[in-house]
Amino acid sequence: MKTIAIIPAAGIGKRIDSGVPKQFLKINGKEIIAYTLSVFQKNKLIDEIVVPAQREYFDLLNDIKRKYGFTKLVKIIEGGEERQDSVFAALKNSGAENTDFIAVHDAARPLLSQELLTKAIFEARKHNCIVTAIKARDTLIVGNDNVTDYLDRNKIYYAQTPQIFQYGILMEAMIKAEAGNFKGTDESMLVNKYSGKVKIVEGETINFKITTKPDLELFRQIISSSG
Ligand code: CTP
Ligand code: MG
Repeated sequence: MKTIAIIPAAGIGKRIDSGVPKQFLKINGKEIIAYTLSVFQKNKLIDEIVVPAQREYFDLLNDIKRKYGFTKLVKIIEGGEERQDSVFAALKNSGAENTDFIAVHDAARPLLSQELLTKAIFEARKHNCIVTAIKARDTLIVGNDNVTDYLDRNKIYYAQTPQIFQYGILMEAMIKAEAGNFKGTDESMLVNKYSGKVKIVEGETINFKITTKPDLELFRQIISSSG
C-alpha cells in the first residue's frame, strides 16, 4: 500500500497576477512550491509525488527537483483547465492501485506542518477518506450589503488540503463527476457527492492558501521572521 501525493500546480494565479504563477514565485530565495514539496519529500509516510503543471513550467520544475533533491517527485504531467482537471490528469497518470492512498495538497499551501500531514495520513488509513478543515470561529453573517441572517458556526468548516482518499474511491468520484459534467471546488466535494463518506480532520490556521497579494505578504513575513 503506497501513499502518493498529488500537488496541483497548473494554476495561473489570476488573483495575484504577478507574471509567473504564484507557486513559482521565490520568497527568501526559494520557490513557494519548493516549500510545499519539502514537506512531502521529508515525510516518511509519503512514497511518491506527482505534480500537474502547465507544460511551459516543466523545465523549471525539473530544475527545482534537481536543486532541492526532491527524489520522490517521480512524475510531472500536464495539468488542465481547472484544478479538478489537473488532479484528474495526475490521478490517471499516478500508476496507483485501488487500495493505495492519494493525498491531494495545493502547491500554494507551503506552511503545512509535518504533524498535520502525518495525522491526516493516519486518519485516512482509518476512515478511507478525509478532508482537513478548520472549524469556523467567527460569527457567520449571511447578507448582501446588509445583514439578512446568521449561520450556526458549529456546523461550518473551512476546507483545506491535504485531502486524502483511497485511490479507487477518488477515481470513482472523478469519473462520475466527469460523466455528470460536475465541477467541484475540491476533491472532498466530489467524493461526498458520488462515492462515499468523508471524515473531517481538524486542520491548522497556518496552513492557509496563498490566494491574494496580502496572503503572499503574510507568507513572506512568516518566512523572514522564522529565519
Ligand atoms: N491549480 C491547478 N490547475 C488549475 C487551477 C489551479 O493545478 N487549472 C492549482 C493551483 O496551481 C494551486 C491550487 O490548484 O496550487 C489551488 O488553486 P488556486 O489557489 O485557485 O490557484 P490559481 O487557480 O492558480 O489562482 P487563481 O484562482 O487566483 O487564478
Ligand atoms: Mg483558481
